[in-house]
Amino acid sequence: MASTFVIFGATGNLSLSKLIPAFYHLEGASRLEEGLRIIAIGRRDYTTAQWHELISAQLEQRARGGLDQKILQRLCDKMVYVKMDTSDEASYDVLKEALHGSSGGVAYYLSMAPSEYGVVVRSLYATGLLEEAQGFRRVVLEKPFGYDEASAKALQHHLQRYLREEQIYRIDHYLGKSMVQNLLVFRFASILMEPLWNRNYIDHIQITHAEDRPIGSRAGYYDGSGAMRDMIQSHLLQLLALVAMEPPASMDAEALRDEKVKLLRSIRPIAKNQVNAQSYRAQYTEGVIKGERVKSYLNEEGVAKESMTETYAALKLYIDNWRWEGVPFYIQSGKNMAKSQTLISVCFKHPPQQFFKPSQVRKMEPNWIIFRVQPDEAIKIEMTAKQPGLAMATQQLSLDASLLPCGSVGDAYEDLLLDVLRGDRTLFLRYDEVRAAWGVVDPIIESWAANRSFIDTYASGSWGPVEANKLFEQAHQEWRFRVDPDAPQCQR
Ligand code: BG6
Repeated sequence: MASTFVIFGATGNLSLSKLIPAFYHLEGASRLEEGLRIIAIGRRDYTTAQWHELISAQLEQRARGGLDQKILQRLCDKMVYVKMDTSDEASYDVLKEALHGSSGGVAYYLSMAPSEYGVVVRSLYATGLLEEAQGFRRVVLEKPFGYDEASAKALQHHLQRYLREEQIYRIDHYLGKSMVQNLLVFRFASILMEPLWNRNYIDHIQITHAEDRPIGSRAGYYDGSGAMRDMIQSHLLQLLALVAMEPPASMDAEALRDEKVKLLRSIRPIAKNQVNAQSYRAQYTEGVIKGERVKSYLNEEGVAKESMTETYAALKLYIDNWRWEGVPFYIQSGKNMAKSQTLISVCFKHPPQQFFKPSQVRKMEPNWIIFRVQPDEAIKIEMTAKQPGLAMATQQLSLDASLLPCGSVGDAYEDLLLDVLRGDRTLFLRYDEVRAAWGVVDPIIESWAANRSFIDTYASGSWGPVEANKLFEQAHQEWRFRVDPDAPQCQR
């Protein structure tokens, strides 16, 4: 029996930029089940033919390797558009009618503002559209799940009245990224690293997410959110959990998520009087990106005139467990920076003795392992080696464990949409994970909200505010932005 995928908010940015291209590429790879139907729901007065024209125009720009008309046609054959006011319970009869005749499972993707989740789920329930007599009924929720721990709890409480936990798919698209899944393979499919993966050998770990893009047309959401909520509470704490967690009992969804929760709960709570020492925020001013002058955050359309929202956030965390006691984890994320990239950089300790005399060896550099999540995937291990020749001179070598050129792997949403249809929740968040992640950032968010007199700035197109270096424990340490060991460190 074929399934149906219902996209609420189909005409919105996320749907057009991510979901529709993901369905198109899955169709191109023949990964969509025979008979699958996709119902696109929006408020706008489109006919299905107009909707097809709209997605065709979107896919012109987003299809990998150019738009293939045959694939587009096959996708359009699966897809209908339904106009509906989702805030009005009575209008769910229209959806019921559209679903009439669907005999398999139904997945509802809520690609809309979180404030609308409540009414949509309640209305689906009231209209009988969550009953599982004829197959699964699953609800996919985009982040953010709440805006702090208390609101996440309230939302969960509301959802539980209408849905079982197994029906809820809280998406974090970072978990669908191929390199993020590779972290698990790298750590748990070989024995090589495990003996080194702890406080005895690792000096610190950095997670950097930089974007060379501004907030675009999302001021309505972003100005009330900021980088700490938007990136760190969700995506980057997930990366941290995967890098630092213990091996799970198995790779099944619950075992994996149990370990992530355990790790998140082991993060030392940040005391009020430690917020300044352990976190930092700033906002972009105008500058130059890729040769173009760009405006400051305060001049972005829709941003409040005196907004204190951070477009850059950094924090230092400690994990109080046997493996990581005393090892700092540094996390940063910023918009309008020099280049878009996401790196996880693991810095090893210096050898216990300077075995080579300083005159013989330029300077002992620590070993690093770098996972580049994007723009192109790479795992690199940096070692010190002797340069060829008579002199005892050293150089940093990079052992390139893997390198996949940009665009050669599918988008994270492709994996995740298939997982929803297959009922595999491994790469979706459980409520206790989300709650634990809010627990980590809540003290910082609260303190920043109370302190609204001043925010530091950084020039657009730079590598972010140099003041964020204050988080490092040792004066010579700094954020790692380069992957090639011989390339000069990026200038701020
Ligand atoms: C989203 C955030 O969840 O992730 C955006 O809301 C951010 O602000 C985006 O730009 C980053 O995702 P990616 O996949 O482009 O790194």
